[in-house]
Amino acid sequence: MEVNKIMVIGAGQMGTGIAQVFAEAEFDVILYDLEEEIVKKGLNKIAKSFHRQVEKGKMTAARKEEVIKNISTSTLLQSAKNADLIIEAVIENIAVKSKVFKELDKTAPEHTILASNTSSLSITEIASATNRPEKVIGMHFMNPVPVMKLVEIIRGLETADIVYEVIEELTKKLNKVPVEVNDYPGFVSNRILMPMINEAIYTLFEGVATKEAIDEVMKLGMNHPMGPLTLADFIGLDTCLYIMETLHSGFGDDKYRPCPLLRKYVKAGRLGRKSGRGFYTYT
Ligand code: NAI
Repeated sequence: MEVNKIMVIGAGQMGTGIAQVFAEAEFDVILYDLEEEIVKKGLNKIAKSFHRQVEKGKMTAARKEEVIKNISTSTLLQSAKNADLIIEAVIENIAVKSKVFKELDKTAPEHTILASNTSSLSITEIASATNRPEKVIGMHFMNPVPVMKLVEIIRGLETADIVYEVIEELTKKLNKVPVEVNDYPGFVSNRILMPMINEAIYTLFEGVATKEAIDEVMKLGMNHPMGPLTLADFIGLDTCLYIMETLHSGFGDDKYRPCPLLRKYVKAGRLGRKSGRGFYTYT
């Protein structure tokens, strides 16, 4: 199973980061989203990130031009015909992801591996939308993708060993560290992280302390690089809510109940950094 051409579905925060690291590792990358404007914005974001590396002396201007050429953009799902590996990074919603996988399964060649960057949803359920569940796997990158070393690799019920091995090797080629986990809601990362973030939101909701105080306690007291409310804004409050809902419905325990304040912010369109406002305001 040789993997040379990668297609990334969704040119949001995660999709652009994933496209960037594969391009830097000399893979051919197709960045796909629903609209031309979104993919262009995504490509622009990647170019800016390379530009910052040039400014810091971490990359030459010539290398930047070369690497950016490894990425092409598309708004046609038919581009899946040319991919050996497709990584999906659309919104954290099972209906949307299942629909995307069903369509990809029809279009992509038989050998193509279909991976999901889902933070919490069942790889087994996503795989069941296809006729190739043995070639479906979770490849969960962390945000920001170019910086974070971990890739949580999730085996679905039917994932073939060879597919796991290919994805593990690829992760190493990206200079990242693969960690194998099984398919349960939130896997390891978000089963542990998201209830902490949700509890921080409850702490704010119940008036225990201000948002700044909550973040400061966790930063200075627990040595976390950023406070949980700042981190929630960084992840996206819509994504946090989707993940909590997955944990809540998957485990059925009240300890996973999403905080009403989180729901209210998402309803108001305060999605965090990406929308300009969440717990904090961004310019
Ligand atoms: P985002 O909101 O920044 O981007 C989502 C993108 O998907 C948007 O560009 C949207 O146009 C596109 N999209 C929506 N429906 C689509 C469809 N049917 N076909 C193609 N594109 C479609 O979201 P973000 O943060 O990039 O998250 C994407 C995935 O990555 C989610 O599953 C999320 O749980 C996961 N993830 C997020 C992390 C984070 O910190 N934000 C960390 C790790 C994983």
